[in-house]
Amino acid sequence: MGEKRLLNGWADELRPVFSPRMVLVAWIPCLLITILHYRTLVEYAWAHDVLRRLYYLPILFAAFSGGVRGGISVSVFASFIYFPHAFLSLVARDPGDALEKGLEILLYNIVAVVAGLLVDRERREREKQERLARKLSEALEEQHRIESQLIRTGRLGALGELTAGIAHEIKNPLHTMKGTAEILRDAIAPEAPERRMLDLHMEEIDRLAQTAERFLTFARPAPSDRRPLDLREVVNRVASLVETQARREGVTTVIDRYDGAEPPAVMGDADQLTQLLLNIALNGVQAMAGRGSGTLSFSVFPERQGGKGYSCVALRNDGPEIPEDHLERIFDPFYTTKDGGTGLGLSICSRIADQHDGLLSVRNLPEGGGVEFTLALPAGRDDA
Ligand SMILES: Nc1ncnc2c1ncn2[C@@H]1O[C@H](COP(=O)(O)OP(=O)(O)O)[C@@H](O)[C@H]1O
Ligand SMILES: [Mg+2]
Repeated sequence: MGEKRLLNGWADELRPVFSPRMVLVAWIPCLLITILHYRTLVEYAWAHDVLRRLYYLPILFAAFSGGVRGGISVSVFASFIYFPHAFLSLVARDPGDALEKGLEILLYNIVAVVAGLLVDRERREREKQERLARKLSEALEEQHRIESQLIRTGRLGALGELTAGIAHEIKNPLHTMKGTAEILRDAIAPEAPERRMLDLHMEEIDRLAQTAERFLTFARPAPSDRRPLDLREVVNRVASLVETQARREGVTTVIDRYDGAEPPAVMGDADQLTQLLLNIALNGVQAMAGRGSGTLSFSVFPERQGGKGYSCVALRNDGPEIPEDHLERIFDPFYTTKDGGTGLGLSICSRIADQHDGLLSVRNLPEGGGVEFTLALPAGRDDA
């Protein structure tokens, strides 16, 4: 691995000097000038003067596209191939002319270094600006995500309180109703038609109690028991839990391979995080249901945002996209577009993410590629 990176680095270093462009604008012209130079008769002194100066063109081209390294590589090459021509015939005959040509050769190299340094400095400056711009846009994006999460948390908190109050008020009388119904039921003969009605009555009470219970779960999520854990293990568990239902709908589940750096461990409640990801995975399967095909993919990867380390899970499904103006609303309790949906799944997910100091976001993938939910959890204490 290290060796491969070393070799790649080496190739990267060489590329500006031997790229096709460089060969075309610098090396070949340099060679052509030299061939012409050697073939021009000594009597045409003016032609020699012109040719000698023509070397500056490829040298400058090389410096412009390859910086100091590119410039020097060509200026040294020009110096070497021009050297025999400039000196061998002249040193004995005309030392003054030889000196002049020696200085010209020196100048080739000086021009290459100066032009190259300027180009390199310019390039570094540009890269620095690009890096800064990238950082700025990442910071803005993170701020936007945190902001929308905060707004969502506030809204869910207020709704949670209200829901808890109502659910509580409903649960108490239901309890009494269930008790009295049981007493009545014992008093009625099993074959009496009233008995059947009372059974129905009790079933409905149970159903209401269950609903109230669900509202309470949303409003008062259980305190989480957070321990260091590897999100990849949670993802494996969720993928196998959702597998049966996915297969029934013709949906393939895949866990993307990630070859980069290890995602850091997080402090999390394994059961709650499983519930969170399972909710999202099931929504994904439901979004693709009825088509007989589709892919639900999970990937786990590390990310740095605002100088902090995160472990992220991205869950994608290639179903229909969510209208842009509904992207935030889907986290609201009771928001549902399904017959028989509760609309509580994602609001519970959001609360769990919040309890973990995490960020849960959603986006439509470009070109109708589906929907992607991303959960980012801060790296555990040891990894931060
Ligand atoms: N992967 C998805 N693709 C498209 N729409 C989705 C997806 N996940 C959630 N939604 C939308 O968000 C709504 C709320 O989801 P959720 O809170 O889990 O409640 P429910 O599943 O009971 O409808 C869904 O009804 C659906 O409209
Ligand atoms: Mg759901």
